[in-house]
Amino acid sequence: MKVLVAYASERGGTAEIAEWVGAELLRTGVDAEVSPARDVTTLDGFGAVVLGGALYAGRWHREARHFVRHHAGALAERPVWLFSSGPLDRSADEGGLDPVPGVAKLARRVGARGHTTFGGRLDPGARGFLASRIAKRAGGDHRDRDRVRAWTDGIAADLRAVSA
Ligand SMILES: Cc1cc2nc3c(=O)[nH]c(=O)nc-3n(C[C@H](O)[C@H](O)[C@H](O)COP(=O)(O)O)c2cc1C
Repeated sequence: MKVLVAYASERGGTAEIAEWVGAELLRTGVDAEVSPARDVTTLDGFGAVVLGGALYAGRWHREARHFVRHHAGALAERPVWLFSSGPLDRSADEGGLDPVPGVAKLARRVGARGHTTFGGRLDPGARGFLASRIAKRAGGDHRDRDRVRAWTDGIAADLRAVSA
């Protein structure tokens, strides 16, 4: 079974997490393809989907939201896992962060098997009025690759159970 790892990212941090997920799936023997969500035209050929989106102003990146709406029928027929990336502190790794309400709703819509939030990354020199202000206060890399790996290993184990 081939897994699609799709992502919606503005500044590359979420894209890299998706690459880590894809690499870990491959390492555990699960075939995977990583792609920007906006480039995916069909889910044919994929037995399962992992979708990740960056968080901006309390919402999932619009391309992640669009992806779910556009592929809702096909997603509902497949095992799906979602992740968000955003918090510029340790809160995501301290555990128990609920998905933002919009993501929770989309997760219900497609019957997602799981959702997690990973820390985010913002270049301390980020440009833009809001981004530069946030970056001064909380810029840096708050992503934990080990946690991404561990979460992905759970997906791989689930997939093995599904296909057994
Ligand atoms: C203008 C702006 C708004 C943001 N809003 C949120 C937010 O509401 N919640 C959150 O957890 N992170 C927020 N972040 C942090 C981003 O989600 C984080 O930088 C993330 O890693 C960005 O992903 P990307 O590099 O894939 O675009 C915000 C960052 C910026 C620059």
